[in-house]
Amino acid sequence: MSITSTPAWQALLRHRQALASFRLDTALRDDAARARSWRFEAAGIEADLSRNLATAETWPLLLTLADAAELPRWRERLFAGEPINNTEGRPAWHTALRTAPADGAVARRVGEERLRMLDFAERLRTGQVKGASGKPIETVICIGIGGSDLGPRLVTTALGEASGPIRLHFVSNIDPVELDIALAQAAPESTLIVAISKSFTTLETLENARAALAWLKERVPGIDARRHLAAITSQPERAQAFGADASLVFTFADWVGGRYSLWSACGLPIAIAHGAAVFNELLRGASALDRHFVEAPAERNLPLLLGALGVWYVNFWGCGSRAVMPYAQRLRHLPAYLQQLEMESNGKRVDRDGRTLAYDTSPVVWGEAGTTAQHSVFQFLHQGTFFSPVDFVTAACFESSAEQRERLLYANALAQADALALGEAALKASGSAKAAYAIVPGNRPSTFITLPRVDAFSVGALLALYEHRTFVQGVLWQINSFDQWGVEIGKQLLKQRLAD
Ligand code: F6P
Repeated sequence: MSITSTPAWQALLRHRQALASFRLDTALRDDAARARSWRFEAAGIEADLSRNLATAETWPLLLTLADAAELPRWRERLFAGEPINNTEGRPAWHTALRTAPADGAVARRVGEERLRMLDFAERLRTGQVKGASGKPIETVICIGIGGSDLGPRLVTTALGEASGPIRLHFVSNIDPVELDIALAQAAPESTLIVAISKSFTTLETLENARAALAWLKERVPGIDARRHLAAITSQPERAQAFGADASLVFTFADWVGGRYSLWSACGLPIAIAHGAAVFNELLRGASALDRHFVEAPAERNLPLLLGALGVWYVNFWGCGSRAVMPYAQRLRHLPAYLQQLEMESNGKRVDRDGRTLAYDTSPVVWGEAGTTAQHSVFQFLHQGTFFSPVDFVTAACFESSAEQRERLLYANALAQADALALGEAALKASGSAKAAYAIVPGNRPSTFITLPRVDAFSVGALLALYEHRTFVQGVLWQINSFDQWGVEIGKQLLKQRLAD
């Protein structure tokens, strides 16, 4: 049965009509407990949902919708490694990379490959990995695209200054400038190229890796390039056929989707920059969030509430967009990462059985680090003709930081959330009546997400929170969130064009 025919969906439609004149300013003013009781916690992450276009009646209705979509059953299937990615006939079992599954053989294989990867990272960090001429590796160029780039790049950056001696570069675009910039800073004899590609067929990654190897051979004629190439893939034979030595090929299972792969051997750049202990903390944070998703009661289950809220805005308020504004410069890659996670997962036009959907799915997800974004796109958020719910993501430690600019960062995030929700009502001094062009009407929703600190545990939990939120939305929309057939047409057309 289509989700839109369920009594739960119909009840939400009626509820939405009843909220036609809902105002956030009055809701926040009249219900003093709202700000407190709409705060939720998961793995140390706090989310304040009080500035959303919802009343106390909204939540049970959304939870009933989740039940109608059989969310508990789908969640069980996700964690049990059942083949819920039905168009590709395999599980979407990224949780097994951080929360040991009941299947002992799978847990063992995951653990062994993780140890191999972490051991290699530690050897790099201690100068034990040498190039062909005996010089220790000092520069690592990570070449990958999409899920093989965005997650490792985001986390490596989020965790701040690298603690090890290795200089790390990320290259994804086939535009030569990106690789050229990295190579210009590298000495060939002490450079390792790491090609990260689940399929090991991705044009951009293979062409860039070839170009980097050609640079190496040109600079050091006769060099044994195999000592300068590592690969991370679920297709090890392809990596070896490409020229990687088996001892430098790190693998992960094909049931790990590209956009969910940073927890696997694809996390090598993170471990190189920050060490094995930090990488394990990242997994621990994600695992804590997994446990929350499985165990927390529905009415306090954060990924469930956020996912349901996402559906509420898309299908009942007609929001085709959601902004994510990290108020933490180190999280600046979060919007790009979430664009892939959410839009590649849920940008779907048919349900799991191939039936055309009569309702919208993934909104456009976009964003930019605050406060920078305040001086560009926030105009649209405050006074544009249609509204986009906003996720503010920041860290509690900024609020009480000894560094005044961090306190200002935090205060700015709060001020923006209030301005969106309350508009004029947020200002104490009302002053004279404003001209129409100056009026900020408010009543624009946001969710305020606060990590205790931007550290490995919290970042792990945050990304798992968004993964599960995305999964919840996919279940409510009755789609397969784990394939991405839409991107294939671009690849096929390119082949056709090259052949022509
Ligand atoms: O073309 C889309 C895509 O397949 C993404 O899903 C994936 O993250 C990216 O390309 C890279 O793929 P691979 O890791 O196989 O190189």
